[in-house]
Amino acid sequence: MALFIGPNLDPDEQRIPIAEAIGLMEGYRNFEDREKWHFVANLLHRSHGEVEFLEAHIKRLFENEEYDKISDGYRSNSLALPGSESFRVRINRWRPVGTRPIDNYVDIGLSYGIAHNHDFQLITKGIFGDGYRTKVFKIKSDACAGAVGEPTKLHPQGEFQLCDQSVIWFEAFEDIHIQIPPDDESISFNLIPTERNFEKPQLFFDTTSSTVSGFPENSFGSTLSYLDLMASLNSSQEVSELLVEIAMSSRSRWFRTCVASILSRRLGMEYAEALDKFELAPEFRSAKFDSEQFSTVNIR
Ligand SMILES: [Fe+2]
Repeated sequence: MALFIGPNLDPDEQRIPIAEAIGLMEGYRNFEDREKWHFVANLLHRSHGEVEFLEAHIKRLFENEEYDKISDGYRSNSLALPGSESFRVRINRWRPVGTRPIDNYVDIGLSYGIAHNHDFQLITKGIFGDGYRTKVFKIKSDACAGAVGEPTKLHPQGEFQLCDQSVIWFEAFEDIHIQIPPDDESISFNLIPTERNFEKPQLFFDTTSSTVSGFPENSFGSTLSYLDLMASLNSSQEVSELLVEIAMSSRSRWFRTCVASILSRRLGMEYAEALDKFELAPEFRSAKFDSEQFSTVNIR
């Protein structure tokens, strides 16, 4: 279940400069399971100076003579900051809608209004502005195959606002949320563990029909797009074998199922035969799902 910590700090809790807090977060290794991320969230709540930390980083970027070549691929809504061995640090700018002609583009970049989970633990703090609002739901990710149209029980967890100095932990895979744009420009300060689990996908959901509604184009989505492109350009046995090899090297049953879909759509292999090759668990081989439900046409 997501953890929300309001903005107020106990008077007897000591505040820690953010650079120091990031170092102390290495102590998360002393905890198990969810306690790890509660420990990190509490440290982030007690930290201070994130805005100054961001300003100093931007200043350093412009002191670099090659600043015009700096790009981390996330456009102007996001910026990577110095992290640590165990945590990547990134800020996100959350812009209000209805103020500029590029709003539709910004909406897409910030996933406003789209219910999604994350394929990583996300510990985030509001450091500027009112903060986005978010509706949170819980799923049992082990019970979700990730097929588009698959009915998935979404358990409502409540609505929160990432206001200045509040912290939220979104549990990887399990917490689904919708980001609602803030009234004024806001900034969140995000910690993402370098320790990742690639067994399950990030997905989009339709909260009205309680179903899986698509796959994002990042992460697995971009890999699948390239494999699909390669298979559409060259339908040789060699490409078919390469796809099988790539699928088998992944721990994700969902990814292997999506590759099986490409093999059947593009390369003429029977879907059932491809699934057999990938030694998938029964829920992925069930007749209730077909290859279209795992197809790259579902990438949004
Ligand atoms: Fe999100």
